[in-house]
Amino acid sequence: MARWVAWAATAALLATTAACGSESDTTAAAAAGQGVIGLAMPTKTSERWIADGENMEKQFQLLGYRTDMQYADDDIQRQVDQIDAMVDAKVSALVIGAIDGTALKSVLAKAARADIPVIAYDRLIRDSGDIAYYATFDNFKVGVQQGNTIVEALKLRTAKGPFNIELFAGSPDDNNATFFFNGAMSVLKPYISAGKLVVRSGETKFERVGTLRWENAVAQKRMAALLKSDYGNARVDAVLAPNDGIARGILASLEEAGYGTKARPLPVLTGQDAELDSVKLIAEGRQTETVYKDTRELAKVAVQMTDAVLSDEKPMVNDTKQYHNGVEIVPTFLLQPVNVDKSNYERVLIEGGYYTAEQIAA
Ligand code: GAL
Repeated sequence: MARWVAWAATAALLATTAACGSESDTTAAAAAGQGVIGLAMPTKTSERWIADGENMEKQFQLLGYRTDMQYADDDIQRQVDQIDAMVDAKVSALVIGAIDGTALKSVLAKAARADIPVIAYDRLIRDSGDIAYYATFDNFKVGVQQGNTIVEALKLRTAKGPFNIELFAGSPDDNNATFFFNGAMSVLKPYISAGKLVVRSGETKFERVGTLRWENAVAQKRMAALLKSDYGNARVDAVLAPNDGIARGILASLEEAGYGTKARPLPVLTGQDAELDSVKLIAEGRQTETVYKDTRELAKVAVQMTDAVLSDEKPMVNDTKQYHNGVEIVPTFLLQPVNVDKSNYERVLIEGGYYTAEQIAA
């Protein structure tokens, strides 16, 4: 218990000095002398990763740690090299948002030999026995919430149908993408089997519907091709999009093909990450929902996990079953995602302090 009190006290002390913006906050951080944390982040193309990095930097520094944060621009080898350099620089711990969760085995074996603990951040790192803990959201539940959005919006429990739907998944090398897709399909599959939901393209397998690197442009191109080859005069009624960036790529092709008019209304369109551009689309009724994951909370969990490990304490976990990474179950702390649509985005995101009304209205 004393540890937590000290933790809170240090944080409060550093918060005050940091707030003064004086020289003393750096001294206080150095005085706390907690070492350097290596933060290896995947990309800045999804705005959420920028917020993740900034939140973790702030929270680690409040605890007296210095940070070495590197973004790898979705370049797998660059991320390996960045982590390798952090190990050589003898960081105290590594917090990694992996690009390709299967590509880090050997560099993390080197980290283990140097006694550097590794926390997997948001994306599970696979095929390595050197992952101490995993901090993420309930990824299966993210997909369930996306699937339920489609069921509710089309009133599938009572409507006769059939309704046309197309399916998109995230990057095939991102372990999260399979959880999102499987969660959504656990809800949608019964309606597809019953013929109430029809996938006119016939593309229902994860391998067929994945979007490499979560590239919005790849999704935009695939949606345009599907509309051309499979939709003639038929209309698409729903699209499962795994995150906001892909949803916006899909929306561009839909509107390009004349959707969004009285004659051809936009389909139900899901998303994830509560990115500002997509929250604006939700307010305008052009995207149906997003799954909000408060990355301020995820950063807090990752920081507390790291601080506990470095203090020879056991971090809090709440899942020791779901996340087998090919070598072992990685003890995990799962945060809860929140479904956000036109009915609640103001309460959840503005009252929750994630965005201001001005940001959304701009
Ligand atoms: C996933 C993450 C999602 C999504 C995607 C794009 O791993 O869990 O929130 O944003 O990456 O980077």
